[in-house]
Amino acid sequence: MGESHVIIVGGGVIGMSLAWRLTGAGARVSVIDAGAGAPPATNAAAGMLAPSFEQSAGPLAEALYAFSVESLARWRDFAPMLERDAGMRIDYRDDGILGAALSEAEEEELKGAFSPLKARGASVEWLSPEEIRAREPLLSAKVRGGFFAHDDAQVDPRRVLAALHRVFLEAGGAFIAARATSLATKNGDARGVTLESGETIEGDAVVIATGAFAQICDLAPPVFPVKGEALALDMTSVPFARVVRTKHAYLCPKAGGRLVIGATEAPHDASLDPSSSRVEALKRAAIDAAPALSSCAELERWAGLRPGTPDGAPILGRPAESPEGLFLALGHYRNGVLLAPETAEKLTSLILEGENASALGAFSPGRFEPR
Ligand code: GLY
Repeated sequence: MGESHVIIVGGGVIGMSLAWRLTGAGARVSVIDAGAGAPPATNAAAGMLAPSFEQSAGPLAEALYAFSVESLARWRDFAPMLERDAGMRIDYRDDGILGAALSEAEEEELKGAFSPLKARGASVEWLSPEEIRAREPLLSAKVRGGFFAHDDAQVDPRRVLAALHRVFLEAGGAFIAARATSLATKNGDARGVTLESGETIEGDAVVIATGAFAQICDLAPPVFPVKGEALALDMTSVPFARVVRTKHAYLCPKAGGRLVIGATEAPHDASLDPSSSRVEALKRAAIDAAPALSSCAELERWAGLRPGTPDGAPILGRPAESPEGLFLALGHYRNGVLLAPETAEKLTSLILEGENASALGAFSPGRFEPR
């Protein structure tokens, strides 16, 4: 189906990565997005590529960890290729992530995360307080220990999104700023989407990649918003070297002296207003981890909506009993940026070649459907 027209509803990092990959594979692609260029998950993300720190506790924990590690590996080519084709930097840094415990209880918790990583063969190293502070001298003297995940990395998600837009348009893709309201079918097959204006965009396949909001096609997959608040400080005077994670905050240094601090979690809250009490608590947690941050000016605070699912794993592939040609790429929860390249790769094979890649089997929409 190399010449087919694929319609992707949703212009966040998942939809746009898939769009770019599909155009590279020879498909004609249209992306439909109503979000005015600021998709509520991607735009708010801190951009950590952190399988070591985002381990799921759910039934798909092992499958999700494996998928995360594969996607992290894919980022090593995806990032330079995107930067080259877009002619812009996306602030990809593969210099590891440091997890630091500030209390005895946090140390126990980090040890609990470290052991299974070691057992899975991850490149992780337990560090003494002195070793941690040697890697990040701005951390508080309260630090008791922690670990360094050598392979974990980060990007700037807003730059990634801008770069994806650029390469997608240059590859001949169409971006339609509109709200898709329903699926258009012909002889029971998905054949496009109808927009709020009443216009129908026709295609051969439709992918729903609308993050936490997927109720466009009478399917209602079980995604829900998990609000996350974050803020950015001007760290010009206290430059952080690398990403640091503590129990109550993560600190992600970005280009241009910007330090992104995240993030709160408020399930089923769909508002995009940051709560000042939650952001202040987050800021206090960051200052507790690195007291010098108290002198930094605040640049911005915001909220985003992670697409949560009941088991914390994404929903990828064809829903059972749905029109042929309909695909879901939803529910990446805390890991949309990390999982974008591998999601794009696997869904491209599925859409263009009909390969029901076994790697996607675990994440199939069918797991939530009545049998
Ligand atoms: N991936 C980090 C977060 O969702 O806050």
